[in-house]
Amino acid sequence: MDFSIKALDAKNTIASAKSGCIVVGVFENKKLSKAAKALDSAGEITAALKSGDITGKAGTTLLLRGLKGAAAERVLLVGLGADEAVAEKAIGSAINAAIKALGTVASTDAIIALPLEEVKGRDANWAIRSVVLAGRDAVYRTDAQKSKKDPAWAGPRKVALAVANNAGNKLALSQAVATANGMELTKDLGNLSANVCTPTYLANVAKKLGKDFGFEVEILDRKQMEALKMGSFLSVTNGSEQAPKFIVLKHKGGKAKDAPTVLVGKGITFDTGGISIKAGPGMDEMKYDMCGAGSVLGTFRAIGEMGLKSNVVGIVAACENMPSGRATKPGDIVTSMNGLTIEILNTDAEGRLILCDALTYAERFNPAAVIDVATLTGACIVALGHHNSGVFARDDEAGNALVDALMASGKATGDTAWRLPIGEQYNDQLKSNFADLANIGSPGGASCTAAAFLENFTRKYPWAHVDIAGTAWKSGAAKGATGRPVPMLTNFLIGRAG
Ligand code: BES
Ligand code: MN
Ligand code: ZN
Repeated sequence: MDFSIKALDAKNTIASAKSGCIVVGVFENKKLSKAAKALDSAGEITAALKSGDITGKAGTTLLLRGLKGAAAERVLLVGLGADEAVAEKAIGSAINAAIKALGTVASTDAIIALPLEEVKGRDANWAIRSVVLAGRDAVYRTDAQKSKKDPAWAGPRKVALAVANNAGNKLALSQAVATANGMELTKDLGNLSANVCTPTYLANVAKKLGKDFGFEVEILDRKQMEALKMGSFLSVTNGSEQAPKFIVLKHKGGKAKDAPTVLVGKGITFDTGGISIKAGPGMDEMKYDMCGAGSVLGTFRAIGEMGLKSNVVGIVAACENMPSGRATKPGDIVTSMNGLTIEILNTDAEGRLILCDALTYAERFNPAAVIDVATLTGACIVALGHHNSGVFARDDEAGNALVDALMASGKATGDTAWRLPIGEQYNDQLKSNFADLANIGSPGGASCTAAAFLENFTRKYPWAHVDIAGTAWKSGAAKGATGRPVPMLTNFLIGRAG
């Protein structure tokens, strides 16, 4: 779906706009939005509302053809609810309903003339992104590995947004499209089967991104990880035939002396649990255990396309977690890159074992902040469901500022997160009789003890951890990656770039 801006003025009126379909809003009290009024010179829209064919309730739709008041072939009426000061929620349902209805409109183009610039408490930037992300999600298909493809989106492929053609809106549109492109990459990587999307595959995607967007890309192999003494990371890959990859991307959009923001992604391309093997049902979904890595690559796709003016480093720690005669066993003790020894009481708590070495590696960049993103704990789904990612940080000025910024970016983009605690009490749950730390906590608060484990390796810089176990993919009939938290991360980085 291609998006553009269609600026309307006294000369280029909406009534004279030639289009396959113009989308306008109507209200529950039978009032028309400005754009609807401009198409109602023959009273046809008023009549449709009077007839009761559309109530105006937020998210209702009615398709009309051949209006005398419009040069466009069709007009799609979309309900905005009762409140003429358009609320975020009402325009959100209107946008979703409009996209859904457009899916069965057989035209090549459409103009969305909903009141995108009049949303209470939100700017045009917000509404433009909402339309672009909803539209791109609607055309997305998960048929990359099917020989017979799913039916493609049958609606318009060219969608114009009726907003002012100013610099701010143009920038917002280009950033929204870049975000959607990043999410698409993240979804594609997540949805690919784990026999295709291996650590080597992720490394090749990173290399390709480097070529396309000018990132410096470095791929460390097992030997180089051994030289770095990443004993914790390497213990996870012991049982696998797939080569582990430690992938580093650098986006140098800022001044050379500016400290970078570092994104670290968990890239377990398949998590069997290892010797602490998982139960069979639903285990296929552990192909999504690389979604943190996928979201780092997707966010790089987005900021690369945008030409973000700041320095960002991406670290993707990628390997498989498999059982075998060579696999790590419960009770094995390993030494992490920062020297702390870890008793691996459960080989299924592997994410933290690869992340801790990646977080130590991040020290060399003297980062302004480090954000790690991981499908880390099933307990995060118990705590927050599938609506919010979990965010964790030290309870100090830097940690709180990071949490605030991440949560605000999540709220602005509809990719929300909620804070959960770490601290001394959770750290105490990780005591081992035989090593500095155990890789699982005593019972209770498994998401918090996992985050507390990571915190031990992040004391040299401001840090936040994002647990996306509940938000990175959907199960059931709609099984598929969501592309989250690319919107939150991208918006967060845009905010930091100023
Ligand atoms: N990748 C899983 C977490 C996960 C499970 C995410 C289900 C989404 C859905 C992680 O590696 C894991 O297995 N965690 C264990 C930790 C436990 C052994 C302390 C878990 O959450 O059960
Ligand atoms: Mn696991
Ligand atoms: Zn895992």
